[in-house]
Amino acid sequence: MLEYVIVPKSRFSDVIDHLRVSFPDEPLNAAVGLALHGIPCPLLEHHELKTLEDGMSLMAVDRNMEKIAGVALNGVSNKGDTEKSIEETNAIENLQYRRIFGLLNDVNMELDLFSKYNVDKIFDIRILSVDSNYRGKGIAKDLFMHSEAIARKNGFKLMKTDATSLFTQRVAESQGFWVEKSVNYHDYMDENGKKIYDTQPPHLDYKVMAKLLD
Ligand code: ACO
Repeated sequence: MLEYVIVPKSRFSDVIDHLRVSFPDEPLNAAVGLALHGIPCPLLEHHELKTLEDGMSLMAVDRNMEKIAGVALNGVSNKGDTEKSIEETNAIENLQYRRIFGLLNDVNMELDLFSKYNVDKIFDIRILSVDSNYRGKGIAKDLFMHSEAIARKNGFKLMKTDATSLFTQRVAESQGFWVEKSVNYHDYMDENGKKIYDTQPPHLDYKVMAKLLD
């Protein structure tokens, strides 16, 4: 039996522990090798903690064990944040980090959902992760559903997600999100003609997906 609750400050470190083990399977990370299973990745964890501090992230907890079965790290993205993130990312030396966040920043900059939908803030489902022992049971779908309730309660008009995994794309589609932009990972080559994002099937595209709330 799972319970879906906003992550309290007292559980931030448990969420980080969960992500250290479960999130390295994310297709873009697996292709680039930023975070490795079980090993702290300070750059990624800084990003995760900043999102947790927005106070809208959710965890699915197994009540019997208090174990974290899955999380949705939801943050507030404000107009101008992508520009700031581009500057910050350019100043970071770590190539793997720059490759992942460089792609996300470029695609979001080009899309500019703030102007397109005339909003100043967006409810951003940034990180979705389910413990490997709990996958394939609809927990990601439930995390999306409960996240939408939080977005509505807080008056957001637009939700978005950087769906880097086909599975997240399926979840988002089932919850009424549409594709704002899709890019094929294998179209990106380095100067030697080598794929920059050699993601494994079935994860061939990165899609920015969005949903308007009325
Ligand atoms: N093989 C085939 N399809 C799968 C698989 C699988 N191994 N796992 C999930 N799916 C499909 C499901 O069938 C379902 O699609 P459907 O409705 O068309 O049947 C959809 O994906 C979602 O299924 P859920 O059971 O709700 O997903 P789950 O709870 O297993 O969590 C998640 C999915 C979060 C992607 C999990 O696999 C995970 O943690 N992966 C590692 C981290 C990651 O990739 N996170 C997402 C990155 S994108 C982002 O963070 C915004």
